[in-house]
Amino acid sequence: MSLRYLTAGETHGPQLTAIIEGLPSNLNIDFEELNFQLHRRQKGYGRGRRMQIEKDQATFVGGIRHGYTTGAPVALVVENNDWKHWQKIMNIEPIEGSDEEKRRVHRPRPGHADLNGGLKYNLKDLRNVLERSSARETTVRVACGAIARQFLAEFGIKVAGRVLRIGEIEAPYRDLPIDELIEVTEASSVRVTDAETEKKMEAYIDQIKQEGDSIGGIVECIVEGVPIGLGSHVQYDRKLDARIAQGVMSINAFKGVEIGIGFEAGTIRGSQVHDEIMHTDERGYHRATNRLGGFEGGMTNGMPVVVRGVMKPIPTLYKPLQSVDIDTKEAFSAQVERSDACAVPAASVVLEHVVAWEIAKAFLEKFGGDSMEEIRANVASYQAQLENY
Ligand SMILES: Cc1cc2nc3c(=O)[nH]c(=O)nc-3n(C[C@H](O)[C@H](O)[C@H](O)COP(=O)(O)O)c2cc1C
Repeated sequence: MSLRYLTAGETHGPQLTAIIEGLPSNLNIDFEELNFQLHRRQKGYGRGRRMQIEKDQATFVGGIRHGYTTGAPVALVVENNDWKHWQKIMNIEPIEGSDEEKRRVHRPRPGHADLNGGLKYNLKDLRNVLERSSARETTVRVACGAIARQFLAEFGIKVAGRVLRIGEIEAPYRDLPIDELIEVTEASSVRVTDAETEKKMEAYIDQIKQEGDSIGGIVECIVEGVPIGLGSHVQYDRKLDARIAQGVMSINAFKGVEIGIGFEAGTIRGSQVHDEIMHTDERGYHRATNRLGGFEGGMTNGMPVVVRGVMKPIPTLYKPLQSVDIDTKEAFSAQVERSDACAVPAASVVLEHVVAWEIAKAFLEKFGGDSMEEIRANVASYQAQLENY
């Protein structure tokens, strides 16, 4: 069975829930490390008050015993602390009260799921769409990705992320060893590698916020230690770069994805794009450069996997755009729901976990096995095969 998860829950509901199926047994789960990843998603300059209300913690309610997975589905929940203020509004049983008391949404926000969801599901209260389309759901996606990340770490695979751009401000690209990249970006309020850009980005976000506007950006994820041969060229839906692209595009507000130099590859010559093949006793087959971001033919080539994603500006604006009231069809300003001005640093954390998940899934497909011991043996036998090739 291939690795998969489903999530449920609303942004102002009691909790978010995830069920993961296909994890092997005997994987040691570090709960503190997992909660640290949830905490990373909540940080970042430009986040609103909601992130101060929520102190996310995952509680496991199935599939783990004495710190180790059992092979059964893993179920986890993350409570919404804000729920106490929304109990009546989000009540499961019918309630009496005015639209105002129910916080009914009837002026859809451009750029959000509100109108399409309302029309498609025939919902006259667009809160029913808003509550589920909110990026609060990425909390449990990060929790699932954090487990994938711990699984990958068992095989020496490391994941890092960084912000490359916020609106008009581009961060200079510093090629750092992965451990240093993790350390440096962790210490930055906007997940960049230099203090000057950090200051510029903070001031820029303040200005955008003051103007009642929002801003997006570009983020990058790097995964190191990925073995050669995850994914496959033989069928379109087994190409791992394509699966990663799907995962990235599924992150709220992401509008584009690149692997390696991505779109730049269409602007320069083949001799400047393709990575020359080398071989040494120490490193085996490797590439002189990594412009293709660790992929050829839908398979990993052993070089670091490099994935970039672009996040559009957040759609909820304190200075709202024009919309139409679904009751009267008259022009009105869109409704305002508490919102961030910039969530690009948080989106970089989400990207890391979405990419980690896809790589862990492909890793399990390649090396199979129901227990960590069986997978380790399969990895060792493949490594011996590569060495003898
Ligand atoms: C980490 C993160 C935080 C976000 N925070 C907000 C927010 O506070 N307000 C908002 O309107 N949209 C926010 N978004 C974006 C919306 O969830 C997203 O635009 C919406 O679900 C519509 O989906 P689409 O943009 O993918 O089409 C956030 C996205 C991410 C990745």
